[in-house]
Amino acid sequence: MATQICTEKIKLNTGQLMPAVGYGTWQGKPGSEASKELQDAILYALEQGYRHIDTAAAYLVEPEVGYAVNKSGIPREELFIVTKLWNADHDKAEEAFLKSLENLKTDYIDLWLMHFPQANDEFGAALEHPTPAETWLAMEAVIKKYPTKLRAIGVSNFSKKTIDELLAVATIKPAVNQVEIHPMWPQPELRRYFDQLGIHITAYSPLGQWDSPLLTHPDIIAIAEKYNVGVGTLILSWALSLGISIIPKSARKERITANINLIKKLDPQDKKFFDEFYLQKGMHRRLCLVGDGSRPTGHELVFGWTYEQLGWDTFSI
Ligand SMILES: NC(=O)c1ccc[n+]([C@@H]2O[C@H](COP(=O)([O-])OP(=O)(O)OC[C@H]3O[C@@H](n4cnc5c(N)ncnc54)[C@H](OP(=O)(O)O)[C@@H]3O)[C@@H](O)[C@H]2O)c1
Repeated sequence: MATQICTEKIKLNTGQLMPAVGYGTWQGKPGSEASKELQDAILYALEQGYRHIDTAAAYLVEPEVGYAVNKSGIPREELFIVTKLWNADHDKAEEAFLKSLENLKTDYIDLWLMHFPQANDEFGAALEHPTPAETWLAMEAVIKKYPTKLRAIGVSNFSKKTIDELLAVATIKPAVNQVEIHPMWPQPELRRYFDQLGIHITAYSPLGQWDSPLLTHPDIIAIAEKYNVGVGTLILSWALSLGISIIPKSARKERITANINLIKKLDPQDKKFFDEFYLQKGMHRRLCLVGDGSRPTGHELVFGWTYEQLGWDTFSI
């Protein structure tokens, strides 16, 4: 079964066109050696056709993104660069935005996301203020002050609960909510809710992150063999069929290529298999690693907030 490079673009509520496949840059290991590796990986991704790069101040790799983007020689207007405001910077949004812009060595940022709703102090403890709504108003002030340097603002890790609180004060609707989505955590209700609001969903950890159980699941391997593709290509092709965008990360050339060369349309029974995968016993859970590097249990604190405060669904494993 032939795959083809995905050039699909999503129209955001700002009117911007965002490439549906982005390159994720969270490597979990900033530092000089990783730095060169990441620069090369981003340059390779750009050569392979990626035009959307997802990064964040907290990943400590914005300079590497800036380096690779400039080195690539690709005209800036062909690229879509996303970065994020970290939890410890909610009380200094403007300063943090200008720092990201400087790190990225670019004239403008396409989309700036509130990485998590909660504000933390420098040691990671949750703060009562700014609230997510207060931080959003600070981000609105930044886009209003720098309209040529910032094209859109959005959120990440928001739920129905936290977006309702934010929308109660917002004068600008978030363009995007970036959340964990993969076959074991497909979040159909959340997707429906944000769809109704006109806020686009981007899937982070679309493969289930490091050492993902999805990648070794025998039923998924069997379907991938039928299409003659790798398991990653198959899972990402399904994710796109949901109408969301995806930002897979790989440090390996063959996978960087595979993650943007996707199957245009899955057979209906295969789409149904993935749509319902999470309903199988033991298959409904978040996978994105928590602070100490372990898999989530559904009950741990996330940067000082409970799942209840976040409005996240819990699960049992
Ligand atoms: N907003 C947020 O809070 C948030 C949270 C997490 C992530 N993100 C963003 O989302 C991006 C992607 O998520 P992620 O990095 O957590 O997880 P992911 O993309 O689901 O998975 C990455 C893992 O899968 C492996 N992999 C990649 N392509 C593969 C393929 N085709 N076949 C087999 N294995 C493959 C990678 O290993 P190799 O590198 O060795 O290939 C890596 O271990 C991040 O880089 C970051 O930009 C955002």
